Amino acid sequence: MLTDITAARDAALAEIETADTLESLSTLTTRLSGKKGDLARLKTKLGSLETVDEKKAAGQAINEAMTAVSAALDGRRSLLASQAMAEQIEAERLDLTEFVGKPARGHAHLVTQAWERLEDVFIGLGFQVAEGPEVETDWHNFEALNMSEGHPARGEFDTLFVDHVPPDGRVGTTLLRTHTSPVQIRTMLESEPPIYIVAPGRVFRRDTPDATHMPVFHQIEGLVVDRNITMADLAGTIEAFTKAFFGPGFTSRLRPSYFPFTEPSAEFDIQRPNGDWIELGGCGMVHPNVLRAGGLDPEEWSGFAFGFGIDRMAKERHGVEDIREMYTNDIRFLEQF
Ligand code: DAH
Repeated sequence: MLTDITAARDAALAEIETADTLESLSTLTTRLSGKKGDLARLKTKLGSLETVDEKKAAGQAINEAMTAVSAALDGRRSLLASQAMAEQIEAERLDLTEFVGKPARGHAHLVTQAWERLEDVFIGLGFQVAEGPEVETDWHNFEALNMSEGHPARGEFDTLFVDHVPPDGRVGTTLLRTHTSPVQIRTMLESEPPIYIVAPGRVFRRDTPDATHMPVFHQIEGLVVDRNITMADLAGTIEAFTKAFFGPGFTSRLRPSYFPFTEPSAEFDIQRPNGDWIELGGCGMVHPNVLRAGGLDPEEWSGFAFGFGIDRMAKERHGVEDIREMYTNDIRFLEQF
């Protein structure tokens, strides 16, 4: 009996050594530790032994053999598991030396670059950056800017309305802002003069995309409110901005124009060193009604405002023929800027 036990144990240990995957070891474990295993079967024969001493010796030998087998299974299992882990790590390893040469690097979009530089330049001139919501009320976008219902200028802003019932129940008074000018009103209502802010942001109009129009585009608004602000401050600020942003070889001019929210109003153009003029945007002295809507007394405060398209400016500056190019995300176009 004792020789059988030793033989069964050695056979089991030898088999364990040859198991080379976790799956085959698992099958082997079931077989060796189950009722049909050789050692388990020998155990059932203990009763047929003659003497108590023989039974005791054989029983002890079987237990020792089973312990040895179970320890061998555990040892083999942890060895195979760590080998499998090492193989997986090796298989998933990233060879960083594969990337040779200069890796391609992305950069900010043309419009983002212009937006950020505009902020930098105006911050340098002493302005703060303000913002307002893209979904606006009719009041902030038109009414408070001196365009009450039925004002013909409203028609020029092809407005996109939002399906929304505001708390006052007035359906059709929620819209996507058609310009950044409502930020003027919000800033006046939320803060005290002196106010020196620029507000870049996204604006929306019901336009079909073509070479010069996009239904979503970007503007930057400027607003100054202080005591004794004059048209000369406006012209000087536009000129300082032009030189700082475009370069010392550029200059600016104001041309009389009309906007409901400014009086007097002007368009401003900038001149390239080669003499060409580029129309940039609108500006003027803040209309007394607009100051009042902003909660300010026009007898005490005066101010100027301006606004222009960021995309249009980038288009002019870089000679982009079709503004849609900026939004089709063709890498061959974008990587030029
Ligand atoms: N909001 C005008 C537009 O979108 C641009 C503009 C004109 C803004 C004159 C101003 C301004 O602040 O004074 O067409």
